[in-house]
Amino acid sequence: MSFTREQLESAMSEKLSKSDTIKLRNKHIGQACQLFYRSDPLKIVRGQGQYMFDEMGTRYLDCINNVAHVGHCHPKVVRAGSLQMATISTNNRFLHDELVQCAKTLTSKMPGDLSVCFFVNSGSEANDLALRLARNYTKRRDVITLDHAYHGHLTAVMEVSPYKFNQPGGEPKPDYVHVAPCPDVYRGKYVDKEHPGEDMAELYCAPIVEVCKKLQAQGKGVAAFIAESLQSCGGQIIPPAGYFRAVYDAVHAAGGLTIADEVQVGFGRVGTHYWAFETQDVVPDIVTVAKPMGNGHPVGAVVTTPEIAHAFYATGVAYFNTYGGNPVSCAIANAVMRVIEEEGLQENARSVGDYLLKKCLEFSKEFDIIGDVRGVGLFVGIELVKNRETREPDTKSAHWVVNRMKSLHKVLVSSDGPNDNVIKLKPPMCFNQENADQFLQAFRECLAMLVKEGNDAHFMVGADAEQNTSTMFENRQRLIKSS
Ligand SMILES: Cc1ncc(COP(=O)(O)O)c(C=O)c1O
Repeated sequence: MSFTREQLESAMSEKLSKSDTIKLRNKHIGQACQLFYRSDPLKIVRGQGQYMFDEMGTRYLDCINNVAHVGHCHPKVVRAGSLQMATISTNNRFLHDELVQCAKTLTSKMPGDLSVCFFVNSGSEANDLALRLARNYTKRRDVITLDHAYHGHLTAVMEVSPYKFNQPGGEPKPDYVHVAPCPDVYRGKYVDKEHPGEDMAELYCAPIVEVCKKLQAQGKGVAAFIAESLQSCGGQIIPPAGYFRAVYDAVHAAGGLTIADEVQVGFGRVGTHYWAFETQDVVPDIVTVAKPMGNGHPVGAVVTTPEIAHAFYATGVAYFNTYGGNPVSCAIANAVMRVIEEEGLQENARSVGDYLLKKCLEFSKEFDIIGDVRGVGLFVGIELVKNRETREPDTKSAHWVVNRMKSLHKVLVSSDGPNDNVIKLKPPMCFNQENADQFLQAFRECLAMLVKEGNDAHFMVGADAEQNTSTMFENRQRLIKSS
């Protein structure tokens, strides 16, 4: 299905001036829905590949949209979705080939016994269902999660998301949720420089072993351990080698199940493997996927073993999800998985990701403000610090860089982590070496300006960083101060 040039131009033409769009948004959209670049938000009217275009036609290099996995508006994905919309979209109580083919392809990418799918509409729904499956299978309630984790916005997944519930105004953590330290060897509970030569995986696993023992002694046991295979909201964290193996062993020994949240990091992003958990050589009991699966269309899935799926069926309560697994979503997911293969995007993530990481590491030799560079494939984090020795986070400079990159260089990056000082990159998988060079040149200019001007740089282009500081970060700072 294709559209004429006139149809496309009409779809992207401005129906409202930017200021009217802002006015209507302020009036009718809940204030809790926050914008990027709040003092000068972007109005994006078109996307193509790794680029986004605003209402003036300005092109931005997109380094942050991992959802547009195979590239914004990939023609094969658009075609598959349009064609299926023009044919039939109904629910999964009718037989449809796109549904079973999607399940077949998805499970063919999974190791072990992970062969049964439940289709959903989002990452939140996927994790919510994963918790239900685990609680049903184990007949237990207690869940272990990692500090700074985010697993979605539904009630049950907010309960296992310290990234949200630790904000002032967040719901208190239920007593059946247990938070273990995030395995961040640069800034976490155990840092590499204070534990030279020690097994960091073991150090970070020990608190989980303790929770398991405590819950067993209380006769409660563990229902599940849930974690992102690489923590993204927590600041692009790469856990130490052997961490998940040790944790999974401990959780299994306590009778619990393991849930790998691949909502951000799955589908080849890490380059060396299709799933990020594979980098740790483990096989989870349940895997949740969403975001990149639909390239912008809402589709997700929970993949598990026949045994866990059967126990859910045996309750006698049928699982029905009106939109989960509809033929349009499945046709789109099938197209996404085909494009990843056809265009060698996993390999692209590996080679471009390696190049990007190498160059950022070179920058860290030149610029003291870079405290740490970490990443795998097209999942990279650059931590900015005021002092390399103390590792004091430089949040202000991170915000400044994010804003200058956008306003001066037309490159979109974001900041994240508990201190919001990690510059985070997770671009569409078609991001190429030329794009990496564009990012690097722009980033280098920002770093050089910070060196040249010191704190005065904060008053130059991108000074709106101050106002753009996200409410989330302000809230976290208030929490730290008041505690
Ligand atoms: C790791 C992770 N899990 C789950 C979710 C929730 O996904 P969704 O927004 O599709 O509900 C997110 C969203 O950002 C996420 O980052």
